[in-house]
Amino acid sequence: SSAEKGGYKHFMIKEIYEEPEAIESALVGRIKLEGPFLKEIEEFNLETINKIKVVACGTSYHAALVFKYFLEKHINIDVEVDVASEFRYRNVYIDDNTAVIAISQSGETADTLESVRVVKRKGAKVIAITNVVGSTITRESDATIYMNAGPEIGVAATKTYINQLVVLYLLGMSILKKRNVWSENLEKDLNFLKNSPDIFRKMFETIDLKELISYYKNFNHFMYIGRGINYPTALEGALKLKEISYINATAYPAGELKHGPIALLDPTFPVFAIAPKDSLYEKMKSNIEESKARKARIIAITTEGNKEISSIADDVIFVPESPEDMYPLVIAPIIQIFAYFVADMKGYDPDKPRNLAKSVTVE
Ligand code: AGP
Repeated sequence: SSAEKGGYKHFMIKEIYEEPEAIESALVGRIKLEGPFLKEIEEFNLETINKIKVVACGTSYHAALVFKYFLEKHINIDVEVDVASEFRYRNVYIDDNTAVIAISQSGETADTLESVRVVKRKGAKVIAITNVVGSTITRESDATIYMNAGPEIGVAATKTYINQLVVLYLLGMSILKKRNVWSENLEKDLNFLKNSPDIFRKMFETIDLKELISYYKNFNHFMYIGRGINYPTALEGALKLKEISYINATAYPAGELKHGPIALLDPTFPVFAIAPKDSLYEKMKSNIEESKARKARIIAITTEGNKEISSIADDVIFVPESPEDMYPLVIAPIIQIFAYFVADMKGYDPDKPRNLAKSVTVE
């Protein structure tokens, strides 16, 4: 009923607008004066490990990729990320210096659970990140960090992706703090996390993509591109669009375009560029220019105040200036809102996309 949806047309859009409160819940008790604090991992010797394997599916896998880029930027630890349906069947090497993190919103995804069992048999310690209290994954792992997003009804993960990111940033920061790797930039990241609920609220007040979407909804293909920590943002943008609007969206690290996918581009194949003003911006800009040269329409997400982008992109969506590590967090709601309104305007029910279940409990 509409009452359950708090007056919103669908759970998905309600859940997107709940993101500020969801973040607040994820942060409660987890930032102390001394810095990030996750009591759940106090028992783990994260001071000595040099390898982390992260396993997940779908959106949770994209959150895992953000974690990899984040942590590897600040410390020399190998973070390996894999989709659970591959991980469970390959020979994964675990030693005393390896920690495993399994991410699953539902805590019931069959492949992710089986991956946990596989590494447990090899003696690994597993940290689960989940949203559902008492879910199977919490019982099979050595520790659980709850993402505290509240129930998510829409099949498309929205506020739980945001909270996965928040919890993974906190986890990464806790590891860095424990290992005495701390910097002014990390302090800024942490501050940004604290302020992000208000930043989201402000963004939600002003964002209006409807006109843009009523135009773009008519295309049959989209190419999402991003680089570095925002390559996963491109993957997540494409997944959201595919799963609820049934548009063929593909995502590439922007530097891969010229190794094949650029052949697809023409005026019927828009490029959705994730292009915040970060250290890879100039590289992104050339990739956007290359796409433009193939007459593809360009829709770009960039940082407020970036004026020059309007000369190469056909449409621009601005996000507030943020620390470079944090762009995946501020851009995520934009790609979610975009997918939501495309689906809604095409007359599809984004809460119940065809062929999909909220959690995939069978292989
Ligand atoms: C996300 O929008 C999808 N519905 C899907 O990819 C999901 O993230 C995936 O099935 C993993 O689910 P989990 O996090 O509950 O394990």
